[in-house]
Amino acid sequence: MRARPAPVRSHVAGAPVSTSTAAARILCISGPNLQLLGTREPDVYGRTTLAEIHARLERRATALGVEIEARQSNHEGTIVDWIGESRTAGVHGLIINPGAYTHTSIALLDALSAVALPCIEVHLSNPEAREPFRHQSHIARACVGRVAGFGPDSYELALEGLVRVLARGRSHP
Ligand code: DQA
Repeated sequence: MRARPAPVRSHVAGAPVSTSTAAARILCISGPNLQLLGTREPDVYGRTTLAEIHARLERRATALGVEIEARQSNHEGTIVDWIGESRTAGVHGLIINPGAYTHTSIALLDALSAVALPCIEVHLSNPEAREPFRHQSHIARACVGRVAGFGPDSYELALEGLVRVLARGRSHP
């Protein structure tokens, strides 16, 4: 796939993904409690807000010539819906930080497996270095790879990795 400059959009509430461009289209989903970034446990997650992360993603997407939409929901079923409709909505790849659903949700794993789009798992913190209950990711087996531990940069690094995967035209190395 050849990445071309395209308009980018970002919002926290969910809206249908446009299918009006031929550029690579990426959907970034953040899960529960991530709307609280900036004030939530700053020693763990830093002081950057999710809106700032989304703005950074937009700038990076523009530089990379891809289109990105970023959403957040606290509701597992809403995230399952967004993943499930992503392929038919014209999305080419996914970035997802499922928050605590990472460690609990078979439904998210099933949704990602069903759409079979290249997906990058992203975390601000490094769950492997935290409490044991954060060491297991149920969604990992449906993801191309994972970026964790780089704070807000994790999202941009995930975007860069996903764009490389899409440019290769396949979802595995
Ligand atoms: C997180 C890590 C999860 O364990 C936690 O439940 C979160 C945030 C992260 O980005 O570091 O909500 O996904």
